[in-house]
Amino acid sequence: MLDTPKIDQARLEAFATRAMGDVTAGYTGVMISLGSKLGLYRAMAGAGPLSAKEIATRADCADRYVSEWLNAQAAGGYVAYHELSDTYELLPEQAMVLANEDSPVFIPHAWNVPASMWADEPKALEAFRTGKGIAWGEHDERLSCGSAAFFRNGYRAALVPQWLPALDGVIEQLEAGIAVADVGCGYGHSTLLMAEAFPNSRFHGFDTHSGSLDAARRNVGAAGVSDRVEYALARADDYADGQYGLICFFDILHDLGDPVAAARHAARTLAPGGTVLLVEPFAHDHVKDNLTPVAQLYYSASTMICTAHAISEGGHLVLGAQAGQARLAEVFRKAGFTHFRRAAETPFNLIFEVRR
Ligand SMILES: C[S@@+](CC[C@H](N)C(=O)[O-])C[C@H]1O[C@@H](n2cnc3c(N)ncnc32)[C@H](O)[C@@H]1O
Repeated sequence: MLDTPKIDQARLEAFATRAMGDVTAGYTGVMISLGSKLGLYRAMAGAGPLSAKEIATRADCADRYVSEWLNAQAAGGYVAYHELSDTYELLPEQAMVLANEDSPVFIPHAWNVPASMWADEPKALEAFRTGKGIAWGEHDERLSCGSAAFFRNGYRAALVPQWLPALDGVIEQLEAGIAVADVGCGYGHSTLLMAEAFPNSRFHGFDTHSGSLDAARRNVGAAGVSDRVEYALARADDYADGQYGLICFFDILHDLGDPVAAARHAARTLAPGGTVLLVEPFAHDHVKDNLTPVAQLYYSASTMICTAHAISEGGHLVLGAQAGQARLAEVFRKAGFTHFRRAAETPFNLIFEVRR
């Protein structure tokens, strides 16, 4: 007979409290999405203390709903509540996270990704049971639009001011004029940021998801840089050879079913003296070092999205979103590259310079 496991009461309470906190976060995500889509945060930003009624009027919403929502927000520390005046205030720091779409710490879009994961739970259940993949384009569309919008602000803060300058000599080449490939460009926010900064260069975005490319084309039209940006439906291992001075992989290599084939194609299509810019989720090489909240998020997304997509592409090498430097370097070594250097890092990204 098995012994009844001995329960450490303090450990049980600590863990149950933590797990309950995660449930609360799930509810909060829905409230954040409502507040963002309804313009409630924008109505409060910079306005100082306001009553629930005033906020409802500013956002053109029904005040009974808004007052309940505000209490949920105040209880979670997402807005301040002033008891004496019975008013609510979005503090400047909260506004940066919740109201300012251009802030590098703007969060609401990020909640589209778990929303898509919940919507796709039946597909994940089936995938776990059968071992089959789920392609990027098979997901609820909140995945592509949410992740693109979420990544955009990080790219805006870091790509041109920090990551490109961290690559040896690349800024000078971009200023002089080179061809650039953005492999798996998605909605093309990275392509666009580079095109706006370097008018002498030419930018080619490739992706296998036509819905994302449609959005990328709309974004280019709106930004007025269509003279130097074009997008094409193409796989990471078969896009047109443009003898690129820079080939970029933004958060895509680990999604591929055959990352080595993609790296080989980059080796073939890179101009002499060219550079590969590889941006991947921050990760250490070993699971034991990845037991952090950032890795919790990445491993979770990887389970349903990245790993599932790589399997849908044949799963020759399924890196997952926490591949780490050693395994990423090995991909490029196998493809014939000899130089692999960590050029920069953020709490969320690793940035590598790769050369033949
Ligand atoms: C996580 S998203 C990253 C998108 C974009 N690079 C960004 O950072 O916002 C991965 C992208 O890779 C694309 N993708 C997946 N497999 C691909 C393949 N074999 N060839 C080209 N693109 C692919 C997906 O359609 C999706 O747009």
